Amino acid sequence: MSRYITTPIFYVNAAPHLGHAYTVIASDVMARHWRQRGEDVFFLTGTDEHGEPVALAAEKLGVTPQELADKNAEHFKTLGPRLGASEDFFIRTSDPRHVARVQEVLERVKANGFVERGTYEGWYCPRCADFKTESEIAEGNRCPIHKIDLLREQEDNWFFKLSAFQEKLEQLFADRPDFVMPPRSANEARAFIERGLHDVSLSRSKLRWGVPVPWDTDQVVYVWWDALLNYVTALSFAEEDNDQTSTYWPATYHVIGKDILKFHAIYWPALLMAAGLEVPEHVLVHGFLLMKDSSGEETKMSKSLGNVLDPFEIIDRYGSDALRFYLLREVSFGQDGAVSVDGFVTRYESELANDFGNLASRSISMVHRYRQGTVLATAPDPDITAVIDPLSAAVSEQIDAGQPSQALETIWAGVRRLNQYVEETAPWGLAKDPEKAAELDRVLTTLIDGVRVLAILLHPFLPVSTATLLATISADGPGDTDLAGAVMTGAFGHEIRTLEPLFPKAI
Ligand code: MSP
Repeated sequence: MSRYITTPIFYVNAAPHLGHAYTVIASDVMARHWRQRGEDVFFLTGTDEHGEPVALAAEKLGVTPQELADKNAEHFKTLGPRLGASEDFFIRTSDPRHVARVQEVLERVKANGFVERGTYEGWYCPRCADFKTESEIAEGNRCPIHKIDLLREQEDNWFFKLSAFQEKLEQLFADRPDFVMPPRSANEARAFIERGLHDVSLSRSKLRWGVPVPWDTDQVVYVWWDALLNYVTALSFAEEDNDQTSTYWPATYHVIGKDILKFHAIYWPALLMAAGLEVPEHVLVHGFLLMKDSSGEETKMSKSLGNVLDPFEIIDRYGSDALRFYLLREVSFGQDGAVSVDGFVTRYESELANDFGNLASRSISMVHRYRQGTVLATAPDPDITAVIDPLSAAVSEQIDAGQPSQALETIWAGVRRLNQYVEETAPWGLAKDPEKAAELDRVLTTLIDGVRVLAILLHPFLPVSTATLLATISADGPGDTDLAGAVMTGAFGHEIRTLEPLFPKAI
């Protein structure tokens, strides 16, 4: 089975921050999980380089938009690798191959009768690059997301006939209740449609930085159409001389933050229908990471609001696994949640280092202390297999349903159960009694086998530390990370290596 998962493409008007990292991490966990199941996965991320936000930022800095884009795209390109993410391709919308394909698709949309000339008059947020409808305007004609004054715009533009898709979109949401997930976001999108769809600008006449409208090169394509199209154009050129569109399109999941719901849940399927392309399977919406601002109020973390927790600082001190774990554990995926340095340190110490890291090192060091490093092949304790073996199916179900935090909680229940097992069986007591040797062997095998299964399940979340752990307890080589191996078998009978602490205290 093939799966295609995408992150939003990031504006290059600022440096990468934790909000961007969050989207990448969640998508990567899902991609890695599917790969563990042997599925054929394509994972896309990239940068959104055209349009007003970038043009404005470049103007302020006194450089050309292309120069700013080239410089900042490099920062975003390093984001994935530094987060331990496994993307298959990184698209930049200033790539001429993308530009040419955007033009092709829009020519088709026009030929199909969904483009006309018109005049836009209304409110516009230059940061969102969004023409706001009445219901999206905060008091005093302000942007509810960026808290800035909206601009009154009047432009002669080309328009996309979004209104022609009123019924088709209503039908899409009725036929596919899980097209947008979670249901709260689907309801929000449906309510927007029900208020009545209006045609939207397809082009901008006031801007120069963008994809030229092929039939009217005095105008550039409105940045959101150009950006959304990345999801299909990338497949056609990600690999030289191999158009992969038919393999991976339609996308399984577009993972997005809730601020860009309208574009993905309404504009995007309408544009695809207008171009005669299939709509994606799901749009998966996450909430905002919130941080306290100077007045102590919790607000969306963003560069423009100046309240940023730097992902790179955390990675430098604690490693990428720790950041991945914290964000998915602290904030239930789909909801907003507050993050903080204190909260990070608490979870790192109590859950990663204590619950999981310590379980692994204790279990391994007892094998060395009591059995010279050899784990005996013996049937694991059925009380434990009854808890651990069903986890794999439950985790798969939750990942398929776009619930990575919930999947992590499922696995953590297994971590807690194994810790409890150590306390219940007290191997240090068994070791004192020669008559309990067989019992001790069973407990040690159960622990190491349980830790092995948990490490496989956790691999998409903690790719670096679980690889170390699996290599430590495997007979030889790196240790298998396939999900098929996530059942307890007791098939050991080999010597294991020693383990350095997986999550050391930061210096
Ligand atoms: N360029 C557009 C997306 C185009 S997709 C065809 C864009 N870029 S962005 O850089 O502003 O934001 C990218 C993603 O980061 C969005 O999904 C946004 O929701 C997410 N986040 C930015 N700040 C965030 C938080 N504080 N918390 C969680 N995610 C947030 O929008």
